[in-house]
Amino acid sequence: MGFYSERIFPWLLDRSLDVPGINSRRAALVADAAGEVLEIGFGSGATLPWYDAAKVRRLTVVEPSEGMNRRAAARIAASAIPVMSVPGAGEMLPFTDASFDTVVTCLTLCSVADPPRVLAEIRRVLRPGGRFLFLEHVASENAGRRRWQVRLTPLQTVIGVGCHLDRDSAAAVRAAGFTLPPLEQAIEPAFGVVAPLVPLISGSAVR
Ligand SMILES: C[S@@+](CC[C@H](N)C(=O)[O-])C[C@H]1O[C@@H](n2cnc3c(N)ncnc32)[C@H](O)[C@@H]1O
Repeated sequence: MGFYSERIFPWLLDRSLDVPGINSRRAALVADAAGEVLEIGFGSGATLPWYDAAKVRRLTVVEPSEGMNRRAAARIAASAIPVMSVPGAGEMLPFTDASFDTVVTCLTLCSVADPPRVLAEIRRVLRPGGRFLFLEHVASENAGRRRWQVRLTPLQTVIGVGCHLDRDSAAAVRAAGFTLPPLEQAIEPAFGVVAPLVPLISGSAVR
């Protein structure tokens, strides 16, 4: 609970990622979210304006950082969708089996402590046929870029409070038992000069 992770990083994240290029991807990500929806790693709530109030019955959000939760509070207060904020982590979700129609992560699997455990929890709380929607930056398909991602990840985990550049999250989603078609990586110009080191994938995996 350091000053950097709880005060500076949440502010920095909004400054750098609450921008049109990323927000249009967030909007596309949550467009299909419906019914009882869970978002893990809600951060400051940057996805919230893009959920469709006509489709989402209730949004439950899990976010371990108090600093992030503080910033999310204003967005939650202004939301047309009922939002229930639950402090905690994706590795141990306090929900019964098969209790959600949709689970969402946005730029979160890079930062969780134990991705296989989080994905197992997502699968557990999704109803059969439910969807796991995700937008994540991942290990590059390009070997040279991937070498740089591996080299820079120790620094990035400090600057980005646990964020890894070199995770193969699509493979992890499939290894967790989800059905997921092949995905293309996209370079997002909003990331500026580091964009080649943060290729994005967006997927809809079926439980
Ligand atoms: C890069 S931020 C993304 C925030 C937000 N989803 C967005 O689109 O701006 C990653 C978020 O994951 C959260 N996080 C880190 N470890 C987590 C865990 N084990 N379970 C759930 N969330 C976690 C962080 O606190 C942070 O808010």
